[in-house]
Amino acid sequence: MMKKKGEIDLGLGLPRASAVNRSTAWPSSRRPRHHPRRETTDGHDKVPFPKDRKIPYGEISQFSKRSKQMPREGSEKVVYMGKVGVKLAVGCAVAACVVASVMVGRRVRRKRAWRRVVRVLEEFEEGCATPVGRLRQVVDAMAVEMHAGLVSEGGSKLKMLLTFVHNLPSGSEKGTYYALDLGGTNFRILRVQLGGQRSAIIGHDVDRQPIPLHLMTGTSEELFDFIASSLKEFVEREESVSEHSKSERRELGFTFSFPVKQTSSSSGILIKWTKGFVIEDMVGRDVSECLQQAISRNGLDMQVNALINDTVGTLALGHYHDEDTVVAVIIGTGTNACYLERADAIIKCQGLLTTPGDMVVNMEWGNFWSSHLPRTSYDIDLDADSPNPNDQGFEKMISGMYLGDIVRRVILRMSEELGVFGPVSSKLHVPFILRTPLMAAMHEDDTPDLREVARILRDTLEFPDIPLNVRKLVVKVCDVVTRRAARLAAAGIIGILKKIGRDGSGGIARGKNEAASRSKMRRTVVAVEGGLYTNYTLFREYLNEAMSQILGEEIAPSVIIKVMEDGSGIGAALLAASHSTSSVDTIQIPYM
Ligand code: BGC
Repeated sequence: MMKKKGEIDLGLGLPRASAVNRSTAWPSSRRPRHHPRRETTDGHDKVPFPKDRKIPYGEISQFSKRSKQMPREGSEKVVYMGKVGVKLAVGCAVAACVVASVMVGRRVRRKRAWRRVVRVLEEFEEGCATPVGRLRQVVDAMAVEMHAGLVSEGGSKLKMLLTFVHNLPSGSEKGTYYALDLGGTNFRILRVQLGGQRSAIIGHDVDRQPIPLHLMTGTSEELFDFIASSLKEFVEREESVSEHSKSERRELGFTFSFPVKQTSSSSGILIKWTKGFVIEDMVGRDVSECLQQAISRNGLDMQVNALINDTVGTLALGHYHDEDTVVAVIIGTGTNACYLERADAIIKCQGLLTTPGDMVVNMEWGNFWSSHLPRTSYDIDLDADSPNPNDQGFEKMISGMYLGDIVRRVILRMSEELGVFGPVSSKLHVPFILRTPLMAAMHEDDTPDLREVARILRDTLEFPDIPLNVRKLVVKVCDVVTRRAARLAAAGIIGILKKIGRDGSGGIARGKNEAASRSKMRRTVVAVEGGLYTNYTLFREYLNEAMSQILGEEIAPSVIIKVMEDGSGIGAALLAASHSTSSVDTIQIPYM
């Protein structure tokens, strides 16, 4: 039978069924060799011992009795040897009984343990279930929370942050701009050349570097000095091979992918860290100012003229290529979304903005919460052990930073309680040791004997010899975790579409206009960036499948997901370019 996607036959058989079956038969090598019948003098085997006969345990003593009654001819030696033979036979029979019962006991225990393992998995799967009905509840909850977050500061767990980006790049941007993209495990420096005509990005160069771990928890000065000196090296390298006139002002768009309360399109205050960064002295400070000071300290002449979230950069690039792009989503180390909102819907700053029209709103959806989200005990433990408990609940179910660790926790539970993995490896206790790319590699292992799964379990978690059906179990755990994440992300996206009336349901206040709105569904493009979506095929397939299920066949074709490679960085350069010519709107909002 063909396996469906994500369908894995776990069976209820024992890990080593063949070994166990053997135990119920009496192996020929263990048959008593000194049975009396071999000692008879008439040359006949009076009591034939069928070669392949399995002797029921009750028959063993009868067989011995019968042997004693056999006529004996010849010397006492024969009688004596007969007695010895009988004793030996009885001894062997007893030993065989003991071995058999030990093996049967082991078999029963293994079978029970395996059933418990399967039960743990079933419970986990039930806890993670995302039927379409539940996803629709998440859609509604997302739309309602968005509204609440736009009405008042703190009105929702969704911060719905203003970005002061009113105009997305028009295509007329021209010149060379730099961008710095900081937000995940790597940071990127880009130099983008814009030709002045739509879709005319002449070229861009990128330098990617991992952020040294100690800088993620050090001081703001250390982090920004490291970034600024890398930026300086990059600029010098680039400009040594391309012309740069001394009079040209270098301008930079800074993508800073953490929750920031913007005070203008080029400045803002860090609200909190996410994704494992903990640099206390930075919270509450102006991010652009910190970078600008570090740039000056490093002797570089460059102006930070756009401060954006990565979602906003992705939206900017998406919109640059296709004007129907109104939503952008990041699904990578962290997760978040932004979209273009009508100014009059942003109730919390009515009358305070000087520029009319739409504005991009950074939702910070990683912090979304709803009682409809399927949460398991593993999620609760992961949250409790994280540096930001009760925070970023949606992100902890969806993003690349966490998925591998949820899988690790489920494997640990199975391993500890049920012993199917053998002795518990100490590595399994190490948080985040099973990174999401490794988890994806196990999930997508298509070798018949799941060789890649075995390799990762051996090399990363130090489980030397995991039988195939346990490997299948691990793949199933990965599948459950990824499927839930992808489907919840899909529900989140459709929640945004619902808020802006592009899901075909007539928006939050659905009703009699529903049919009409279905008929005039506009083409809507959602720009997506982030390794989880772009590099993980099964994640992508699950997300796309859920989008179609929720939207329905009629509406789904009008919603298009487009991947924007390097969108967050190139978008920052585009916004730096558009802000260098347009007027800038500012507002004073007291810091919460
Ligand atoms: C941050 C967001 C960011 C997202 C994706 C989240 O942890 O709070 O600002 O957009 O990660 O990088």
